[in-house]
Amino acid sequence: MAQYQLIKFTLNGKPVEKYIDVRASLTDVLRNEFSLTSVKKGCEVGECGACNVLIDGECYNSCIFLGVWANGKNIRTLEGLLGSNGELSDIQQAFIDETAVQCGFCTPGFIMTAVEILESGKEYSEEELRKLLSGHLCRCTGYENILRAVTKTMKARLGK
Ligand code: FES
Ligand code: FES
Repeated sequence: MAQYQLIKFTLNGKPVEKYIDVRASLTDVLRNEFSLTSVKKGCEVGECGACNVLIDGECYNSCIFLGVWANGKNIRTLEGLLGSNGELSDIQQAFIDETAVQCGFCTPGFIMTAVEILESGKEYSEEELRKLLSGHLCRCTGYENILRAVTKTMKARLGK
């Protein structure tokens, strides 16, 4: 029998609350209860990164994070990157400019990891960036362009 629990958290900058099934993953809560379909269901076992979201500033596989654990947290998804008039963020634009999107399934997850990288304010080498992005799988294999988009945005933010 399903059991429900009230959770309250911050979602893309706004306080929200919802009764959720205690067995639901954060992926399912975000997609089904909040219609945030940028959060993709890929492997659902923590292997591909398609479901990545930021939880208190750190990227997590939301498919292996229980929805009830979101209580009291600050959750951000790709939808939260848009400006007030729907303008794209610099990293989203860079993915377009560098043709780092093919089918697009892996893209939101990659971008959320990129946001964590960019918000660290650090400059990473190519090797370090490859490692930081290595938790993601792109079945279209567009890795080089993705790396270019992240590198370009990192350099632009650092004024290089
Ligand atoms: S769907 Fe979560 S890691 Fe693959
Ligand atoms: S663009 Fe298709 S899976 Fe990455």
